[in-house]
Amino acid sequence: MTIYARIMGTGSYLPGDPVSNHDLVARGIETSDEWIVERTGISARHYAPEGVFSSDLALEASKRALEASNCKVEDIDLIIVATSTPDMVFPSTAALLQNKLGMKNGAPALDVQAVCSGFVYALTLADKFIRSGSNKRVLVVGAEVFSRVVDWNDRTTCVLFGDGAGAVVLEASTEPGILATAIHADGSYSEILNAPGQVAGGQVCGSPFVKMDGQAVFKFAVKVLSEVAGEALASAGVKQEEIDWLVPHQANVRIIQSTARKLGLDMDKVILTVGQHGNTSGASIPLALDVGVRSGRIQRGQNILLEGVGGGFTWGAVLLRF
Ligand code: ACO
Repeated sequence: MTIYARIMGTGSYLPGDPVSNHDLVARGIETSDEWIVERTGISARHYAPEGVFSSDLALEASKRALEASNCKVEDIDLIIVATSTPDMVFPSTAALLQNKLGMKNGAPALDVQAVCSGFVYALTLADKFIRSGSNKRVLVVGAEVFSRVVDWNDRTTCVLFGDGAGAVVLEASTEPGILATAIHADGSYSEILNAPGQVAGGQVCGSPFVKMDGQAVFKFAVKVLSEVAGEALASAGVKQEEIDWLVPHQANVRIIQSTARKLGLDMDKVILTVGQHGNTSGASIPLALDVGVRSGRIQRGQNILLEGVGGGFTWGAVLLRF
């Protein structure tokens, strides 16, 4: 009998009030609502207040996902957190989250570092653990505080990002869940998007801020996203027209529109949150998934395609039956 990893429930969390493009102008950033909306589709984003870290956002999203799943923390036997903005060098954000959740069952906890593809990578790992029979209930989280690593003097990047977290509880099931996964990386593209600083000798060495060649990222993203979507569909034997919802990484509405067009999907089959959330990197897909589920658009039995691309470069897709 085939064992699937099936989503039991979803949750998400956005810190504080929305910060609009007009608010950024008021804070002294030389930009305009018109420029940001036209180039990216972003109108607002959220920022975590001082002293609030990725594990705190992950905690709130996880509680909501556990509640939606009717699942207790002791039932979780693995935690995977996708983040590129961890609370500290170590321990992992997943271990810190485990403690904040009050979990005492010794379940393993690990972080995945694949930037904006992190959640797709994390789901792929969780799927393998469940299919192998070694785990029954896995908490998979994407949590980020990208506002901490943007250079507020670089208007091309600082307006793009936001903070937030999303989570799912996956359960081993005989009913279909994750149907196919495909993940990739090409480290030769590390220069077009990175935050190259490091901690050494008690100091941050090099720039710890996000650096991006926006146009190179745009071209790369559109190319690999449609390729990897095709790969996941082919491996599951599912046709493009059988996709009920596309839940893409929310970086830029123009990247999302191009990908949807290549998949032959109307934009009304795409869960779009970039306008209100900005780019929350590894958190953007589970945030959008939760919005889709809680708004009643995503229904049980539907085919959902998740896909992401991010620094590394990394990219991937997960096709699942919800
Ligand atoms: N407000 C006003 N003007 C701006 C801003 C701003 N925030 N930022 C840049 N400009 C100006 C520039 O100074 C430049 O002015 P100039 O022509 O007088 O020199 C002009 O706008 C064009 O600048 P470009 O950098 O060429 O802008 P571009 O059209 O490439 O748009 C953007 C930039 C939005 C980043 C675009 O390249 C893009 O969407 N790239 C995709 C990258 C992306 O989404 N990355 C997200 C992170 S990666 C990920 O999640 C996978």
